[in-house]
Amino acid sequence: MSVLITGIGELTTNTGAALTDAALVIDGERIAWVGSAAGAPDADERVDVEGRAVLPGWVDSHTHLVFAGDRTAEFTARMAGQAYSAGGIATTVEATRAASDDVLAAGLRKHVDEAVAQGTTCIETKTGYGLTVEDERRSAIVAASLADEVTFLGAHLVPPGWDADDYVALVCGDMLDALAPHVRWADVFCETGAFDEGQSRAVLTAAASRGLGLRVHGNQLGEGPGVRLAVELGAASVDHCTYLSESDVDALAGSGTVATLLPATDLSTRQALPPARRLLDAGATVALASNCNPGSSYTSSMAFCVATAVLQMRMSVEEAVAAATLGGAKALRRDDVGVVREGARADLHVLDAPSATHLAYRPGVPLTWAVWRRGTRVTR
Ligand code: NIG
Repeated sequence: MSVLITGIGELTTNTGAALTDAALVIDGERIAWVGSAAGAPDADERVDVEGRAVLPGWVDSHTHLVFAGDRTAEFTARMAGQAYSAGGIATTVEATRAASDDVLAAGLRKHVDEAVAQGTTCIETKTGYGLTVEDERRSAIVAASLADEVTFLGAHLVPPGWDADDYVALVCGDMLDALAPHVRWADVFCETGAFDEGQSRAVLTAAASRGLGLRVHGNQLGEGPGVRLAVELGAASVDHCTYLSESDVDALAGSGTVATLLPATDLSTRQALPPARRLLDAGATVALASNCNPGSSYTSSMAFCVATAVLQMRMSVEEAVAAATLGGAKALRRDDVGVVREGARADLHVLDAPSATHLAYRPGVPLTWAVWRRGTRVTR
């Protein structure tokens, strides 16, 4: 089944190609052709988007969607002045351990569907609310049933009642043995109140020795060793990057590690926003992601992240859209998503607007008009 899309107002390809009067053809799960409408091949079906903007689907490279329970009370307390801390994770761990696989899968499906309806077409999610070998393992299996990419985050918090070093030994041993067959990535929350530099290094090194790619939660609540460690160990991405020293910025700029910024988190935890301009001006690769989770950032809206990045972090619309598409793909080390080119996955987001600028110009307005994910139209 092939589909010819015509009438494109503005096409964002992320390939450097500038096309006027653009059209494209989807064939099966892939983009089969991109060019000017005058040269378009025939297709089984034709869709005229009547001047609307077309961009790659969002690549949301950081979420925590395998969870149960509710943390509205924690959010309310935060809005009344209480600081965010890693400790709140334990609330979700308790609820997640008590939930059946079916309940966890239903929650994940609800959140993935919600994201896709807003233009997200490639989504990463993590374990990290189980924190026993069996609860982490079943979290990974549930995650793999619906997410494009799965990350093991057994090192999210030292569970209540555990000695930190004993728990790190469990993560580095039995837990990684049980999880490695089910995930592509391993992550660690390297932060005061979670895991220190030595513990984080131990987890990441053990994960790398089992062939897993590395990701790091770092520099979320203050400056610390997370960025430095991520760069040293060749992690694909270090996520949060809210508090960065000059040497952190320089290290990221000189590395292949993507700085993944999660601005919805910093708003929800009433912190400063990440220094996107410093990173971009230094030459670092930046991604934007939602960090959708029940504690620090309960939104699946990548459009909200893009609008925040433009309006409050001084990114241009082009930089923000690229960070939320191609940047996410780089953070996941993928070249088949986040771009509109022949051979790429047919993941497309059509806005009910003539250009992507409207994402920032009309913040908060639901602009998604149509979404294709792996070649299948999933909206309208
Ligand atoms: O990325 N920082 C660690 N993990 C999540 C928060 C998880 C939670 O509070 O439940 C984050 O912000």
